[in-house]
Amino acid sequence: LFAGEVTFVKGVVAMSGLPGADRPEVCFAGRSNVGKSTLINALTGRKALARASNTPGRTQEINYFALADSHYLVDLPGYGFANAPVAVVAKWQALLKQYLQGRQTLRRAFVLIDARHGAKAVDEEIMALLDSAAVTFQCVLTKADKIKASERDRVLDQVRATLARHPAAYPEIVLTSSEKGDGIETLRAIVAGID
Ligand code: GTP
Ligand code: MG
Repeated sequence: LFAGEVTFVKGVVAMSGLPGADRPEVCFAGRSNVGKSTLINALTGRKALARASNTPGRTQEINYFALADSHYLVDLPGYGFANAPVAVVAKWQALLKQYLQGRQTLRRAFVLIDARHGAKAVDEEIMALLDSAAVTFQCVLTKADKIKASERDRVLDQVRATLARHPAAYPEIVLTSSEKGDGIETLRAIVAGID
């Protein structure tokens, strides 16, 4: 699935701009700076396909990428703090919520959580929104290279407890490092199994 060509399709700024609902899609949601764009690059093996940066609020549109003849991978703007004007942030947050609730072909949302920080209140807000829209979501812990095993286990317990409160949550948590490659093959296999 990930062996073929990956292409950038378009950046979307309004629901009316979404591409045709002609393929199954998965999206990557999470707080600003959690590593969504970097994870898409790691999954596709393309260093600069999705633009990443250390400035929270880098991704400001819904960016569509297509795996040859199969899925769309959707890079979303982050939620929570972003280094951008309030009015601009409000606009893209509204779009993000509309998208998560209203995209027919969205098969699974990956909710990314920083492995150092665990699930925050804003993450639970998004999870609650996905529950009410009946969109299955799966948690991906990011930046696993930045933590010790003891800390990791504590965060895993916290995230597991959080997921237990959300009916739309898929129980398996994927621990990843886009830097080191941990969990990337596992996540590729998960995406390949979604149709
Ligand atoms: P927004 O688009 O602003 O919402 O951010 P994002 O979630 O797309 O994050 P992005 O991929 O831009 O990454 C943010 C920062 O985290 C960048 O400096 C990345 O290099 C870094 N980063 C992402 N993943 C990892 C990882 O697995 N390990 C480490 N050490 N750094 C990472
Ligand atoms: Mg981004």
